[in-house]
Amino acid sequence: MSGIDALNEQLSGLQDAAVKAFAAAADPAALEQLRVSYLGKKGALTEVLKGVGKLPPEDRPVIGQKVNAVKQALADAWQATSEKLESEAVSLRIEAERVDVTLAGRRRDSGAMHPVHKGLQEMTAIFSQMGFSIAEGPEIEDEFHNFDALNIPLEHPARAMHDTFFLNDMSNEKGEPMLLRTHTSPVQIRAMQRCMEDGEPPLAIVAPGRVYRCDYDVTHSPMFHQVEVFKVDRNVSLAHLKGVLQHFLSAYFEKDVPIRLRPHYFPFTEPSAEVDIGCVFCKGSGCRICKNSGWLEVLGSGMIHPNVLASVGIDAEEYSGFAFGLGVERLVMLKHGIPDLRLFFENDVRFLRRMGA
Ligand code: PHE
Repeated sequence: MSGIDALNEQLSGLQDAAVKAFAAAADPAALEQLRVSYLGKKGALTEVLKGVGKLPPEDRPVIGQKVNAVKQALADAWQATSEKLESEAVSLRIEAERVDVTLAGRRRDSGAMHPVHKGLQEMTAIFSQMGFSIAEGPEIEDEFHNFDALNIPLEHPARAMHDTFFLNDMSNEKGEPMLLRTHTSPVQIRAMQRCMEDGEPPLAIVAPGRVYRCDYDVTHSPMFHQVEVFKVDRNVSLAHLKGVLQHFLSAYFEKDVPIRLRPHYFPFTEPSAEVDIGCVFCKGSGCRICKNSGWLEVLGSGMIHPNVLASVGIDAEEYSGFAFGLGVERLVMLKHGIPDLRLFFENDVRFLRRMGA
């Protein structure tokens, strides 16, 4: 066989082999390897072309055409496979990343009101509907508003260090010590003082807020919430107090709850009474929670002491008033059957969810 025929045959063989190999490439990397091995600088085609130099000059243009045809055929075969592999890769990716629209969505947790705050709002709203105005006072108080003006003498146990958080390095303009209020009753003093600045009673106030006592166990937290309610007017009597309590407690517990007033002592009310409701768990028949008494203590109350009215310049001969203060956490616990007060402050979302928050 002459040189040109042999070369022709080699080129045809190379073309067939390359086209087949390209078509069989499994992925772009394999195809690239094949391209290098056939068409690269040191590839099979380069090797065959070394034979061209040995041909007589008149044969070279003929074989040149053949070489160009082979190159074109390989380029076309490479192009076709490359496009095929590329579109296969795209389909695979589409399949892998396909969104299943029938899957359940991912839920974002939404925030909600804390059960204590919710209770506080519910309670405040009931008094608001009865015509009481909402007032607030500072959580950092002086001894005058928290104790003296409320007829709490210096030797009263409520003033002992173990109950009250006193603030080091802080005093009012008279140089007196400051403290975290131990109850919302100082709002009585502040509201009555404000009232006397530009007028006279009547005065009917509901005052929700935080209070602080040095205490921590199943039923006590160093910070808790109270709602203070009081009314000062001519001829206010214990009957008004009882009527307001009866309405409030039935509204809050959303049922008729029996109440009873038990004589008690508070320095700032006279007479004073602790208020019980018929046990909401056993309906009065006696259970563990009410210690078999059928009653649950819920708040402190009484007729505002004449000394308290006098401390803000209200004439106790002309005016009288009732007052009561309730623990918000305690009422929320009773309404929802919560066994441990500390649950409110641990921020366990399972508890908050159970509470419908
Ligand atoms: N301030 C009292 C307490 O915290 C509650 C109270 C308020 C009692 C008003 C009587 C009248 O215990």
